[in-house]
Amino acid sequence: MNVYIETLGCPKNTVDSESVEALLIKGGHCVTDDPGEADVLIVNTCAFIKDAKEESIESIFDMAALRGDSEKKLIVTGCLAQRYVQDLYKEIPEVDAFLGVNDYQHLNDVIRKLSGGRRITSVHEAPARYDELEGRAGAKGAASAYLRIAEGCDNACTYCIIPSIRGPYRSRLMEDIVKEAEELAAGGTKELVLIAQDVSAYGQDLYGSLVLYKLLRRLCTIDGIHWIRLLYCYEDSITDELIETIRAEEKICNYIDIPLQHINDRILMDMNRHSTSTSIRNTIRRLRSAIPDIHIRTTFITGFPGETEEEFEELENFVEEAAFERLGVFPYSLEEDTPAALMNDQIDEEIRERRADAIMGLQQRISLASNQSKVGSIMEVLIEEKNDDGTYSGRTGYDAPEIDDGVILTSERELKPGDFVLAEITDAFDYDLTGRIVD
Ligand code: F3S
Repeated sequence: MNVYIETLGCPKNTVDSESVEALLIKGGHCVTDDPGEADVLIVNTCAFIKDAKEESIESIFDMAALRGDSEKKLIVTGCLAQRYVQDLYKEIPEVDAFLGVNDYQHLNDVIRKLSGGRRITSVHEAPARYDELEGRAGAKGAASAYLRIAEGCDNACTYCIIPSIRGPYRSRLMEDIVKEAEELAAGGTKELVLIAQDVSAYGQDLYGSLVLYKLLRRLCTIDGIHWIRLLYCYEDSITDELIETIRAEEKICNYIDIPLQHINDRILMDMNRHSTSTSIRNTIRRLRSAIPDIHIRTTFITGFPGETEEEFEELENFVEEAAFERLGVFPYSLEEDTPAALMNDQIDEEIRERRADAIMGLQQRISLASNQSKVGSIMEVLIEEKNDDGTYSGRTGYDAPEIDDGVILTSERELKPGDFVLAEITDAFDYDLTGRIVD
């Protein structure tokens, strides 16, 4: 059968969809980019915050409309299915099957059974050993690929629903990760972007200590891999060994994503974060003194229950003080079944959003200054695509795919996606650079 997959949510979902493609191919199906020609439509959903849930529901209805009264089958997978299967089953009769995040390995069976005309749900709580999902068909040939090193989360932040969807933290075996990275490299991948709910916690559950640095050293030995990038690190598990490994290994980008969420100690405690304002400042200092050009990405939440004007000002001052090169901000989203949803003093939506806008206003200036400091320098750029006007879009080592800044380049010679080139940066904007090829 021809199967179309629509993927929403975070990179963890992207990896799931890429693994699902491999499973489908193994099951004798073909994966198509065109939902119109598909026999089976899959929507791989997200349930993180209100907007993500709405987007997922909208996609399900779009696919149901596209199916109309044809013979096509509609399957909903992923986090929304895991969290709300009973409601969805009742409310959206157009969906033929629901699969949770621990059930992808049953997908081929489910597709086979759908010809019987029955609706199916396969949503289990038992955390999947996703090593059973072999291969990453969807990532094949891409210059940049996510590499998932663990699943689930033990952090229990009070605002977050993900641990109850994705289960406890489970590190993958180092051998399995290295093998997958070698396969990706053999298929043409040049950049590995490490992901997990908590990347820096890698190994604690499986090997009894934080061994991300050991994994990184092994990944650095893989031929063909040029850049390795770290997303989603927690401040409290950034060890000296990890910092030294980032500093010493050329292939590891001088870039780290550390979602901090806030700087006020009372709020950090209510969020059940394991950091304090002091530990956060120390970690930033350790990183910047060891690796002066490191670009730190972070995210903050504004309008967490009880956040006073003074506490918000503390966050604003910290954003100025730390001058993060990359920053995202989310207005707090109340998620049912989380401890924060039961807290007193929920903040008005309008205030949460106004505070988020204020932080982004500050960041615009900080980001522009950081970009302006690059004008005139020669930087390595990974080419991502050719634009209609003949220019090229790419990224530097300081930019993660899909979230960070880009570089628009002019070039005398023809380039292709996946090429690494040297470019002189000629101009800077709030969130982008321009440049021209010099090699
Ligand atoms: Fe990712 Fe959304 Fe699930 S953020 S882990 S796809 S709830």
